[in-house]
Amino acid sequence: MNEEMQQRIFASASLPALPAAAARVLQIADGDEPGSDALARLVAGDPVIADGVLRAINSGLYGITETIGTLEQAIPLLGLRTVKTLVLGLSLATSSDTGQTRGPNHQTYWRRSMYCASAARAIARRVLPTGVEDCFVAALLMDLGTLVLDRVLGDAYSSVCERAGSHGDLLALETHAFGITHAEAGGILARKWNLPRMLEVPIAAHHGPQSVEDKALREVTEVVSLAGRCADVFVGERPAESIAALRKAFLERYQISEADSDALLAGIGRQTARLGPAFGVRINTPTDYETVREKWSQRLLELSLAQGRAAAASANKRRNARMRRDGKVLLTPCSNGVLGESLVVRLKDISTCGIGLTHTDRIEPGTQFIIQIPQPGGAVKSLLYTVSRCDREGEGVSVGAELTAVLRPETAMDAAKPPNRAVALTAR
Ligand SMILES: [Fe+2]
Repeated sequence: MNEEMQQRIFASASLPALPAAAARVLQIADGDEPGSDALARLVAGDPVIADGVLRAINSGLYGITETIGTLEQAIPLLGLRTVKTLVLGLSLATSSDTGQTRGPNHQTYWRRSMYCASAARAIARRVLPTGVEDCFVAALLMDLGTLVLDRVLGDAYSSVCERAGSHGDLLALETHAFGITHAEAGGILARKWNLPRMLEVPIAAHHGPQSVEDKALREVTEVVSLAGRCADVFVGERPAESIAALRKAFLERYQISEADSDALLAGIGRQTARLGPAFGVRINTPTDYETVREKWSQRLLELSLAQGRAAAASANKRRNARMRRDGKVLLTPCSNGVLGESLVVRLKDISTCGIGLTHTDRIEPGTQFIIQIPQPGGAVKSLLYTVSRCDREGEGVSVGAELTAVLRPETAMDAAKPPNRAVALTAR
């Protein structure tokens, strides 16, 4: 990190002070007076926070079905720590809301923060139940550094934001232009505010959780980092790449299957639709994960195929399907961008718009599958089909399928690492 820039940010008079309500909540966390009463008084004195807390509690985010009308009702149900964290998050978030529209787009920033916060909560409930509240607030505030850099650097930062094609692109552009990232800037503000390390570290390291040495801090930071990548699915420019990368990350880090990863993302979309209004944020993007996945299904398949090829290559196995001399081909079922186990079927006929197969077991109409056809020069063409009929024939079945798409050839390297537009953008 650029030392001079670090000092400049830390000493900047334009940074917001720690909101009084947040300071008070942090004191309550230290247990200097009976927490519940103090918190109820604090919230009662701030109508904006009171309204937000009750909206969030009644949003379904906390699994409460009855309508809660007062904080006194909420604390016994949710626990003091949960309500305190929510009040802290709301007071910090609303204070950093400057309402300005230059630099990081105001609505985009808040939309992203809503997805990050609800994603962190959903992931932590699954993999880090003791850290749910810390993950929620840290994720809510993780990109606060973009607002910090905007206040300190003004137009210079606005132009960097305009050039960034995605949130991930920001890091390279920020480092190139200022020697500091928004994550680091957020960490500086957290330090200036004397926030607990459990918030400061995940904010500062949310784009590089592996750098955190302390295990407890790293676990929270990993969840927060993944939450940011979940937000990319809904507000980013490359949803298919984000979904494919998340499925891989969830599987490798937490042994969460692709289907469960999809279910998590679907829940995050629904929760964000409810959380947004509690923070006065209009979400305005498709929160329905199934719709997003459907829209990008073909691209997801291309990425899954490329990942499959990469895995096969690394295991030194020939997993790709090939047309065989005995008239049989390998058929790979697929659903929602996830590939199933390949099976051998007999090829009857193939045309420009369809394929005929025979097999021992039924393949239900509507099922999609991929056939890979070898091309001259060693390339492989991947064709996506949808089963239109499945009729009994002798001992087995005759299957007819229509060509749905010719998938784009892609190298494994492309799938593992989406093109980084920031690099191209910084080249002058
Ligand atoms: Fe970020």
